[in-house]
Amino acid sequence: MKILVTGGAGFIGSNFIHHILRTYTEYGVVNLDALTYAGNLENLKEWEADERYRFVKGSVTDGKLVNSLVAEADIVVHFAAESHVDRSIMSPQAFIDTNIFGTYTLLETARKYNKRLHHVSTDEVFGALKLDDKPFNENTPYDPRSPYSASKAGSDHLVRAYFHTYGLPMTISNCSNNYGPYHFPEKLIPLAITNILEDKKIPVYGDGKQVRDWLYVEDHCKAIDLIIHSGKIGETYCIGGNAEQENIWIVKKLLEIFGRDESMIEYVKDRAGHDRRYAIDFSKIGSELGWRPTVTLEEGLRKTVNWFQENMDWWKHVKSGDYTEYYKKQYGK
Ligand code: NAD
Ligand code: TYD
Repeated sequence: MKILVTGGAGFIGSNFIHHILRTYTEYGVVNLDALTYAGNLENLKEWEADERYRFVKGSVTDGKLVNSLVAEADIVVHFAAESHVDRSIMSPQAFIDTNIFGTYTLLETARKYNKRLHHVSTDEVFGALKLDDKPFNENTPYDPRSPYSASKAGSDHLVRAYFHTYGLPMTISNCSNNYGPYHFPEKLIPLAITNILEDKKIPVYGDGKQVRDWLYVEDHCKAIDLIIHSGKIGETYCIGGNAEQENIWIVKKLLEIFGRDESMIEYVKDRAGHDRRYAIDFSKIGSELGWRPTVTLEEGLRKTVNWFQENMDWWKHVKSGDYTEYYKKQYGK
């Protein structure tokens, strides 16, 4: 099978490419990535010389390029996106361009060649849960509240519309917060780990009591693998980690793993429109495809800490350059 992966140089996309090339020795992968601040070819160094892997630098909004790549693929797995809520609050434009127009560009081409497309989306499209609400599932109405989640919701609606209107063979997955190797250190877990390693304080937004459902990235990749091989066309699958925790619990657990005390925590101004809680009911993918998360939160955090300790050059490089400017804008230091 020839898979066109978009956004394969990012966090989840690169983990997915590792998973596919390791699991299916006869598969080929083309990775289309614009190499924005979040794209990093270091993530895929081990495949550079492998004839089953090809990298193409370019944007999913480039119709001509997308046309040539989709034409030669058997399936498109679409990760490419602007993915960070805080950046979407500061400057939404790129989110509209890539997440909505980029997805539309892929859809038009997939439709032309009648190619299968799997769209990777987020639980944030469903809005925010109260503490006693039931977790999101595939029937939860959409209620996005940040420019990021609104742009992902727009892309989900387009993908579904192409199925209903044109019969495009598609599937969608909406997953909860991922964490693990190659996670860009603007997000909570890698930011906290790398700040601890640099002896810097960990910024906790508001009261730190927002809840996320943490999913180890390898479990997520296995779920997408199952969907592209056995998922039902036209269907959506919710993928969660069975690991709901408050942000402050995560930060304190990381400090405990490192043997550091809570004086490293710094409560900072809350995020605008901060969603209180996300949680996923993954019973559909469980009963239809036999998937469930296998890595517990405690185990996943320890594995992630080990990875960041063993890959100091990777994150030090990522945390230099543009990232420093972003950090200053976001945290004022
Ligand atoms: P990421 O920000 O780490 O990586 C995004 C990748 O897309 C980067 O390599 C970037 O260079 C590339 N990209 C950006 N704009 C592009 C464009 N116009 N054309 C081609 N490539 C472009 O993101 P991630 O965390 O790996 O997320 C991947 C997907 O999963 C996204 O669609 C995101 O919405 C979704 N998702 C992520 C999470 C999470 O916890 N990280 C949770 C739910 C859903
Ligand atoms: P993040 O990793 O940005 O993912 P998302 O916004 O997609 O859920 O944030 C996870 C949670 O952690 C979210 O509630 C915001 C919070 N947070 C902090 O408290 N401090 C930080 O420095 C960051 C980046 C996030």
